[in-house]
Amino acid sequence: MFNQKIVDSFENKETPFYYYDLSLLKSTLTACAEAANRYNYHVHFALKANFNDKVLAAIKAQGFGADCVSGGEVKKAVETGFTPQQVVFAGVGKSDREINYALDQNIFAFNVESIQELEVINELAAAKGKTAKVAVRINPNVDAHTHHYITTGLDENKFGINSWDLPAVVEMLKKSKNLSFLGIHFHVGSQILDMNVFKSLCVKVNEMQAWFEERGMPVKVLNVGGGLGVDYQQPDENPIPDFEAYFKIFADFLTVKPHQEVHFELGRALVAQCSSLVSKVLYIKNGIKKNFAVLDAGMTELMRPALYQAYHKIENISKLKVGSQKLEDADSSTLNFQPSTILYDVVGPICESSDCFGKDVAMPETKRGDLIALRTAGAYGEVMASAYNLRPDIRHVFSED
Ligand code: LLP
Repeated sequence: MFNQKIVDSFENKETPFYYYDLSLLKSTLTACAEAANRYNYHVHFALKANFNDKVLAAIKAQGFGADCVSGGEVKKAVETGFTPQQVVFAGVGKSDREINYALDQNIFAFNVESIQELEVINELAAAKGKTAKVAVRINPNVDAHTHHYITTGLDENKFGINSWDLPAVVEMLKKSKNLSFLGIHFHVGSQILDMNVFKSLCVKVNEMQAWFEERGMPVKVLNVGGGLGVDYQQPDENPIPDFEAYFKIFADFLTVKPHQEVHFELGRALVAQCSSLVSKVLYIKNGIKKNFAVLDAGMTELMRPALYQAYHKIENISKLKVGSQKLEDADSSTLNFQPSTILYDVVGPICESSDCFGKDVAMPETKRGDLIALRTAGAYGEVMASAYNLRPDIRHVFSED
């Protein structure tokens, strides 16, 4: 992602900031769209992963829909220009105000997560003389084998309706005059790299759609959620996820009848690699046991390491030249030569011990003022920033600026 020219362009920019490579974003969106179009699949972007205006504009221009989890996200999608027909609204705790707003916008579907929510949407729709289109979010009880904080599709998770409640759901749908049943919705978790998880999901979806149809409930939409993971370890080697392999799993294992549509809700896979958090080294502290590089960005700008012990590759981008110069100097006897590195704990300025981006990170000798990039930060980075410690709003730099 970084070369000397890009790093030079950061010279007078105030740090920290999220740097967006818009051309990588566009290539990623095109790769996804081409793979999805092969099977006529509909892709909705999960706004929760990133709602930066330029990112959303690119996603809308690609023709994707919007997957929202709050009234605020529905509003943002509408303001960005997504048509109401492209907007779905999920979430385990939709408030009356949010439901009313979405009803006013005539969105495509509510992904409903409990029997009581069906009842409330029916009542609120009736009060407006409208019919709300609903998809039932079913907890598939499929283990995503990912971090427990981002696993959503197990019986013990709060998301979706458990299988034992489904007969009551059908009863409720049949008697609710202001609900129109559209289909079924699933989401097993996030950062999934094992394609077998999606295979198991397909088996579950097939089983559930048959179950509904046997009860006289035609299933028009099969929404399989998101979850495709990205390569946090090697962002430069694998900047674009393997969308072909991902969609092929569904093409091979999902039963789709001619009248049905297949919907996806991808977040991370579309935006994670196109952005890095760029920060400056404020201080180097050489302790007896540890060297610390203290950055001007912390968990308030990128919370994932503190919250999920997530790994983000850390690079000293002010030292790009050092590596290459030293390698040029190397003669054939030192072909295996690597620029010497020092181990640092890379930490932020926030008054919390968990404000640490990485322990024992190998970097060339690092000095006050060096720029440090935290890679693969485009998904669940900027959107999870907080004002804790009264930190200022996060800035952005775009590759085209
Ligand atoms: N659909 C539903 C219903 C979801 O709950 C999610 C994510 C997605 C789609 C998009 O999933 P993706 O394609 O991005 O995996 N903050 C965490 C991730 C939370 C994911 C929440 N749900 C992180 O930083 O890893």
